[in-house]
Amino acid sequence: MGSGSAVKWLPFWWLVVGVCFVYGGSFYEDFEITWGGERAKIFNSGRLLSLSLDKLSGSGFQSKKTYLFGRIDMQLKLVAGNSAGTVTAYYLSSQGPSHDEIDFEFLGNLSGDPYILHTNVFTQGKGNREQQFYLWFDPTKNFHTYSIIWNPQQIIFSVDNYPIREFRNAEAMGVPFPKTQPMRIYSSLWNADDWATRGGLVKTDWTNAPFTAYYRNFNATACTAADCSKSWSSFSGSSAQTYQLDAFGRRRLRWVQKYFMIYNYCNDLKRFPQGLPPECNHSSKFLSHPQ
Ligand SMILES: *[C@@H]1O[C@H](CO)[C@@H](O)[C@H](O)[C@H]1NC(C)=O
Ligand SMILES: *[C@@H]1O[C@H](CO)[C@@H](O)[C@H](O)[C@H]1NC(C)=O
Ligand SMILES: *[C@@H]1O[C@H](CO)[C@@H](O)[C@H](O)[C@H]1NC(C)=O
Repeated sequence: MGSGSAVKWLPFWWLVVGVCFVYGGSFYEDFEITWGGERAKIFNSGRLLSLSLDKLSGSGFQSKKTYLFGRIDMQLKLVAGNSAGTVTAYYLSSQGPSHDEIDFEFLGNLSGDPYILHTNVFTQGKGNREQQFYLWFDPTKNFHTYSIIWNPQQIIFSVDNYPIREFRNAEAMGVPFPKTQPMRIYSSLWNADDWATRGGLVKTDWTNAPFTAYYRNFNATACTAADCSKSWSSFSGSSAQTYQLDAFGRRRLRWVQKYFMIYNYCNDLKRFPQGLPPECNHSSKFLSHPQ
């Protein structure tokens, strides 16, 4: 079942994915500030970026390039102190009504209370695949690495190299997988106190404004859509292209899911009375892969 559909799309994927390159550049080179004016800043010769939020506005940036598969790492240090009501979103997204999207969203909280890391995957415009986690550290004290490893087999979300979520290619079960629409990297910090913290019960305390989040050490080992026309050998040779969780990675994933996952749509029978989405079927773990 699995290999049949893999064979159908594999040749197409070869056409789409050309070259890939590895770089860890500067924020000036790789990103542009898209809103919030002075609230978004690039400094330290392009090595550090900050977003801030005050009562008038949040701020945001996006990558200049679009990416199709790869490994994308960014270090973030989240809004410190009382961050209740604020949301820091960091995600990949394509455009249009049937867009694909891979989301990290950090939901702020009162001082001393845990942040929630909210994740979602949209394929062909459809999301509703939330998983939420607490973190095993205070994400406001230091920088931590948040990565997306996206290849034709699966999407892995990881935090400091601990995989926290895996979204496997389940096209064989009729679930679309993001594989043709290049995505840009986006990030923004905004006020969402109508829902973000305890369902909107806790409001943003503007006496703490401005709220600031920091970014550094961006790396992408990815195929950039603009340069995908040459040879694809460097990408096919990169570890991101064939990356899969090994036994060690699986153990770490299980550890995170056991102790830190606080919501999983795949366990939410109330929400899906007609049956859970097909990718939630545990047998999808054993789908064959296209190599
Ligand atoms: C904030 O902390 C409270 C208390 O620990 C917790 O119930 C809540 O889920 C946390 N996060 C958000 C986003 O509400
Ligand atoms: C990006 O790569 C550089 C050089 O290999 C490394 O020092 C840095 O920690 C990497 N950044 C992340 C977020 O992994
Ligand atoms: C889940 O997998 C089993 C075994 O492959 C299959 O019989 C069943 O129909 C699947 N269920 C869904 C909802 O896809």
